[in-house]
Amino acid sequence: MTVETTAVIALRGWHPAIARAEAEAMFPQSDIVRTDARRLIKAEGRSDWSRASLMSGCECVLVGGGMTEWTNIEDFLALVDYEMKEDMAVECWRHEGKLPVSASDIERQVGSHFHEKGSTFNLESPKNRFGIVLDASAGLVAWGWMVGQGPGKHGWATMRANKRPFFRPVSLEPRLARAAVNIAAGTKEGYIVDPMCGTGGILIEAALTNRLTLGIDFDPIMVEGTIENLKWAGVSAEVRRDDATRFELPENLTAIVVDPPYGRNSKGDSKLLEDTLENISSQHDDCNLVVIMPCEAGIENLEEKIDYEISLPGFDIKAMYGIPVHKSLGRIMVIASMSSSK
Ligand SMILES: C[S@@+](CC[C@H](N)C(=O)[O-])C[C@H]1O[C@@H](n2cnc3c(N)ncnc32)[C@H](O)[C@@H]1O
Repeated sequence: MTVETTAVIALRGWHPAIARAEAEAMFPQSDIVRTDARRLIKAEGRSDWSRASLMSGCECVLVGGGMTEWTNIEDFLALVDYEMKEDMAVECWRHEGKLPVSASDIERQVGSHFHEKGSTFNLESPKNRFGIVLDASAGLVAWGWMVGQGPGKHGWATMRANKRPFFRPVSLEPRLARAAVNIAAGTKEGYIVDPMCGTGGILIEAALTNRLTLGIDFDPIMVEGTIENLKWAGVSAEVRRDDATRFELPENLTAIVVDPPYGRNSKGDSKLLEDTLENISSQHDDCNLVVIMPCEAGIENLEEKIDYEISLPGFDIKAMYGIPVHKSLGRIMVIASMSSSK
């Protein structure tokens, strides 16, 4: 059965549950619907799909196509709506193992149908890319015109925090920082603020996605290093030496995204976070919040939200996600918004 849908979103494999939350935030005009495949979701209702290229967990959005169970190549070829397109290419890739068909056969045969319609091809840098995803986790195939970077080498493996001029072990990995910023801000304008910015991992992603960005840290070495990193990344943001628990927030505030120093079970660190939240609530009535913090290993769940005992005074928790780090350490991403009853 072919699923008639506005678009199919192909997710990267790193953390599909966080990628779904990111898609909900970045495509707010669409209903995001899960499918049997862990890395294919449907978006019902049209959003601005060009935001796909800003996203951490999205390979691409496939538009003007569909999704169906895989049977064989002949059945599949009969479903595609071929048309004349200039400057195009066909790309077929796999998710989650191998369906019994050759991706290059599919590319060749789909390409020849487009060729028969008079399409012209450009394999180096095509303006129009027709994508086909073979998903072995659920035996599905999805196809359509690609909006966004696509799979593989365009992804996050090349964007390591340790390639920056100022690196510390605390530096947040870019794909996590990018997802956090997108989930917190979505399509809203206004400042993204990281009140404990460290080496600037969150600020870089906020600025790269064209958001007004402010970073605070009370360590002057971090402030200098962050400024160096932002310059290296070719983006600008305001960075100030100040105290997270006292600094003055901008009026036009959309979200706080923060990765505080948080020793496991450390009372001092939880007080620092509470005082930081209190400083925000004392100046604003409305803002989103994403907090990333370390916790014990074993809480990770790449498919679903998790439950964890945590409270963020003055804020309502909407969702939590568990992220693997290494054998003895995990991370938790907490998504919240300011309580209206405060
Ligand atoms: C875990 S690090 C942040 C790492 C950052 N996300 C990155 O990608 O590099 C926490 C930061 O909080 C800063 N910090 C601690 N207490 C603070 C306070 N009261 N006000 C501002 N910054 C503070 C520390 O100097 C440190 O740089």
